[in-house]
Amino acid sequence: MSTPPPEFDAVVVGRRTVARDVDVFELAPADGSRAPSWTPGAHVDVLLPMGLEKQYSLCGSPGAGAWSIAVLREDGGHGGSRWIHENLAVGSAVRVRGPWNHFGLAQAERYRFVAGGIGITPLLPMIAEVDARGADWTLDYAGRSREGMAFAQVLASFGDRVTFHAADEGRRVSLASLAPGAGEAVFACGPKRMLDELEELSAGWPAGALHMERFEAKELTEPVLHQSFEVELMLTGTTITVEEGQSILEAASEAGAFVLSSCREGTCGTCETVIIEGEADHRDSVLSPAEQAANDRMMICVSRAACPKLVLEL
Ligand code: FES
Repeated sequence: MSTPPPEFDAVVVGRRTVARDVDVFELAPADGSRAPSWTPGAHVDVLLPMGLEKQYSLCGSPGAGAWSIAVLREDGGHGGSRWIHENLAVGSAVRVRGPWNHFGLAQAERYRFVAGGIGITPLLPMIAEVDARGADWTLDYAGRSREGMAFAQVLASFGDRVTFHAADEGRRVSLASLAPGAGEAVFACGPKRMLDELEELSAGWPAGALHMERFEAKELTEPVLHQSFEVELMLTGTTITVEEGQSILEAASEAGAFVLSSCREGTCGTCETVIIEGEADHRDSVLSPAEQAANDRMMICVSRAACPKLVLEL
């Protein structure tokens, strides 16, 4: 398993509202050092006192020394974002881990960014980078209303590169119209329905043109193997049996292997594990189809074996 990023105590050094129900929190190491630098598309884990871990994309400047995350207050779900909004003020302490990046900016001649709601956050630093490079780009930014669209003012300063699609103004984005041409890349982040539609459309696009980050897991596919299978844990020096209905993560943890995990639903990438031998049954929402086909790593919280035995770097 590759070395996990650092986990440390942070302190909130800034907080500001950037849209209705969306606040940006700036987090700096509590020991006065600089927060690790990162690359556009990266996210961090915020470890909340009730045992919840939440992933947030970094949306400030990569070398700033403090991390900026934009948190949409949602009253449903597990209550993590509500807790952050109600409890974190300047001076508050919070435990964090990161940065991780499973959504890196690939080279392209032209970039088409597509954001749905709070999905704008990982795209914002990407836009800053490609714009600074002088690359050609556009953004289609969809939301329920302008007031709820974070960073709308900053983005409006880019003029006609950015198209806002506010549903309450009767403007909806036509995803089919975003088909990339040769040399173009599409980077998208937003709600599940939007990303599912883009993924479907991308079947007719140049291979590898679509890059997405999901906050919500895709529907889990039926396992290729319903019965149990074996996994050799190369570093732990043991072979375990993963039962039907059990995850590799659970079985490996029970066997004493060191495995870091966070979302446990295949979206965050924390449990990414190197495959030494065997074929994985990829069921995650992190790896692209090409990355899954490469069969060199897998998310062991949801992915299983497509063969009787896997050998993993665990
Ligand atoms: S723990 Fe998040 S992808 Fe496995």
